Formats: sequence, C-alpha cells, structure tokens
Amino acid sequence: MDTQKSGKFFVGSIVTFLIVLLLVKVLLATMQGVAKNVVALDSMADEDVVERIKPVAEVYVGEAPVIAAAPVAEVSSAGGNGEKIVAQVCAMCHSTGMMNSPKLGNATDWAPRIEKGMDTLYSNAINGLNMMPARGGNPNLSDDEVKAAVDYMLSEAQ
Ligand code: HEC
Repeated sequence: MDTQKSGKFFVGSIVTFLIVLLLVKVLLATMQGVAKNVVALDSMADEDVVERIKPVAEVYVGEAPVIAAAPVAEVSSAGGNGEKIVAQVCAMCHSTGMMNSPKLGNATDWAPRIEKGMDTLYSNAINGLNMMPARGGNPNLSDDEVKAAVDYMLSEAQ
C-alpha cells in the first residue's frame, strides 16, 4: 500500500517537474525572441554605438589650419590661372591695399611699380619684398603661376 502510494507520488512529481520545465523553457524562448527584436531595432555593434554617442561637434586642437592650404591643390592643378590665383591667394592683401601693398585695379598704386620693369616685379613677387611674402605666402605656387598672377594684377591696373 505504502509503496504504491509513494510510487504514484513519485510519478506525479516527475510530471509536475516536466511541466514546470516546459513552461520555463517556453517563457525563456519568448523572452529571447523579444530581446532579439530589441537588439535588431537598435544595433549594439561597436561602431554603431560609437556613431550614436560621438560628440555633435569635433574640436581640433593642435595643427592650426593653414589659411591658404585649401585652394592650393586647386590652384596648382589649374595650371597658372592668374585670375584665380590672385583671387585665392593675393587678394587677401592686394584687394584692400593692406600694409601699403599696391591695390588691385589701382593704376596710381601700380605705376611706380611697373616702372621697375617686369623682371623685378616677377622676382619680387616670387622672392618677396618687405611685407610682401614670397609667392604671396603660398610656397606651392610655381614661378609660372606667380608670374601669371602678376600679369593679371598688372592687366587690371591699366
Ligand atoms: C600678406 C599680404 C600679401 C599677399 C598675400 C600678397 N602680397 Fe604682394 N605685396 C604685399 C605688400 C605689402 C607689397 C608692397 C611691398 C613693398 O613695396 O614694400 C606687395 C607688393 C607686390 C608687388 C610689387 C612688387 C614690387 O617690386 O614693387 C607685386 C608684383 C605683388 N605684390 C604680387 C603679389 C602676388 C602675385 C601675390 C599672390 C601670389 C601677392 N602679391 C600676395 C603684400 C602681399
């Protein structure tokens, strides 16, 4: 009698245990499914997270931007476009007559310079003269490009 009773109880507990196990498994599977969806919506891959949390603006400390750097490549590949070079490199000073530079398009300013002769003007533009920096401060300009710029300046001053 006793043995039969405990036998039933034993089978009963195994069945109960299996049912509970099954429920937990189903529950876990459901939770995993939900979790998977969440992850898919909002990727946690390293680069995605970095992308999301990166600062809105980046400040560059260190190398100071070189003022004339951006147009340089463009100017050099333009192959001596005087007008472009003057606009991008020389106008910075010459458009306003800054530091007593001969002003663009001002014949009075240029007359005494022109008297010195083209070779002098070319070589002063290439090598610099007092406050006038060599090659207008852009060492990437070739001799021909500086000369083209001078030619353009003079053509504007007549
Ligand atoms: C940082 C300012 C500045 C820039 C940039 C500049 N110049 Fe000048 N330039 C001057 C000043 C100042 C003078 C007058 C120098 C003097 O007579 O003492 C001058 C003078 C000149 C002269 C006359 C030189 C002479 O013998 O009288 C020429 C030509 C000239 N610049 C060409 C150029 C060209 C071409 C560029 C661009 C490639 C250029 N400059 C860029 C400041 C500048």
